[in-house]
Amino acid sequence: MCARCNARTVSNRRLAGRKRSIRNVLLFPALFAVCGLALAHSGAEGIVKERMELMKSIAGQMKMVGRMIKGEKDFVADQVAIAAEAIVGHAEKIPELFPEGSIEPPSEAVTAIWQDWDKFVRLTNDMKLKAQALGMSARQSEDIKDIRPQFGALGKTCSACHEDFRKSE
Ligand code: HEC
Repeated sequence: MCARCNARTVSNRRLAGRKRSIRNVLLFPALFAVCGLALAHSGAEGIVKERMELMKSIAGQMKMVGRMIKGEKDFVADQVAIAAEAIVGHAEKIPELFPEGSIEPPSEAVTAIWQDWDKFVRLTNDMKLKAQALGMSARQSEDIKDIRPQFGALGKTCSACHEDFRKSE
């Protein structure tokens, strides 16, 4: 229940106290319905929303490079390097986007993150190092084949962290 809706419900309850009419009975379910809708629409909030968006952006960069690897898109070294550098920047932000206990729905984060914080930070760093390596190799490569190993290594860092620290569907 959101604080805003709660406040509204309380003030309505006060109003209704005097009248105690049938309207009262009709009003409450309507209020709950509106609140439910507002929550469903806004989805994640605050820091959870921020880090979900950051993860989605990382996934977007990976997808773009992945399409080059699969031959669905021409290899442009610069684009790979820029994507990899963006992932480096994102990696640096990950620890601060996970304040202890922040697992409000619809977050898929698990409390193990804070029980094993050192490992979580190490995996973040690992992603950063692998992204740096991908960026560097892209800048030195003429052929998409040359960056495959670095791309694969970076991809493994995602699953390594998700395995332990993200709820599986
Ligand atoms: C250090 C740990 C860690 C690393 C490394 C990591 N992730 Fe995540 N990722 C998480 C956690 C934890 C969540 C769940 C966050 C939440 O829901 O609050 C998540 C969620 C996601 C999501 C879902 C976002 C959403 O909107 O629900 C995507 C997509 C994702 N990660 C992609 C990636 C990709 C791609 C990589 C690698 C390039 C990566 N992640 C690396 C920890 C990590």
